Amino acid sequence: MKTIIEQINTEQMNKDTLKKAGEILRKGGLVAFPTETVYGLGADALNEQAAGKIYAAKGRPSDNPLIVHIADMDSLTRITKTVPEKAVIIAKKFWPGPLTMIFRKAECVPLGTTGGLDTVAVRMPDHAIAQEIIRAGGGYIAAPSANTSGRPSPTSARHVEEDLSGKIDMIVDGGAVEIGVESTILDMTVDPPMILRPGAVTREMLESLTGEILVDKTLIEPDSAEPPKAPGMKYRHYAPKAEMTILEGDISRVIEEINRMAAEKTAEGFKVGIIGTEETAGRYVTGNFKCIGTRQDEATVAGNLYGILRDFDSDGTDYIYSESFSTCGIGSAVMNRLLKAAGHHILHVDK
Ligand code: TXA
Ligand code: MG
Repeated sequence: MKTIIEQINTEQMNKDTLKKAGEILRKGGLVAFPTETVYGLGADALNEQAAGKIYAAKGRPSDNPLIVHIADMDSLTRITKTVPEKAVIIAKKFWPGPLTMIFRKAECVPLGTTGGLDTVAVRMPDHAIAQEIIRAGGGYIAAPSANTSGRPSPTSARHVEEDLSGKIDMIVDGGAVEIGVESTILDMTVDPPMILRPGAVTREMLESLTGEILVDKTLIEPDSAEPPKAPGMKYRHYAPKAEMTILEGDISRVIEEINRMAAEKTAEGFKVGIIGTEETAGRYVTGNFKCIGTRQDEATVAGNLYGILRDFDSDGTDYIYSESFSTCGIGSAVMNRLLKAAGHHILHVDK
């Protein structure tokens, strides 16, 4: 299959490109498009065959449900059985935005879209191109991250091309994304609602609006015997090819330890990558250093994370050593993704 790639500008949206994307989606095809979090791989969510093509293109396990993307509140009513009062309050504040909510699904949503579950995940993205494509494609677009399963999520159209060129009908290139990590997932079928995946809308932000919010404990205790509540969270996702270690503790000791380990692996002939920050740049002596952002603003770290993991892959890196980050605010989303990338391999260094 030849994949059509078209660039589109948020300020001056090319109507022909949107029309083409809409037609492909309505016919049951696959279109990758930008959102504010990561690029999504879209298909008509109400067409079981179309949704099925997503699984094939990504190599995604069929029990891993898709998020249905909508562009207005009326659409939410059509695909859900009930919308709890709290969800209405949360939607008013955070939609459109980087938040996905889970509801009991209506009949019209096929089980092929929800991985066999009787619930449906819904998100209204805060991105003009995404909204136009959703509307053009019929209003209900299933869209997982547009990467091959197991690879880091795509934050640019080039990343999508690397993974899916030749396997999907179209890529709409709207430039780099804003946030860089996937949406927060909030299960509204339980009360208090529960976070199943941390993202840019944080627990603190949600709690200040509607009171207590629980967090799936498997996100905090990776060795928990229970599987995560979001089926996709159990896979070793977001993973670079290199073996990755996160070092936690006093920053000077972390740097010292990374320098020691990097020197050792380099001497053995391996390619070493280091993930540090603006604050620590210049303090690493061996290895390929990449600056992930500044600790003053951890949103910068979220924004660069997946791109850096992909760069290390294309450089043929064997070992990656990374500093660790705070777990408040967006930091919890960053640490969740870093831990998964490292297969929960974390080293605590003492003073
Ligand atoms: O930011 C995002 O959410 C991006 C953009 C494209 O919108 N999409 C995304 O989709 O990250 P995906 O498929 O890569 O991740 C969806 C996650 C998976 O972990 C899946 O298991 C979970 O959402 N999920 C979907 N429906 C669910 C449901 N009904 N119950 C529990 N978890 C669900
Ligand atoms: Mg994904």
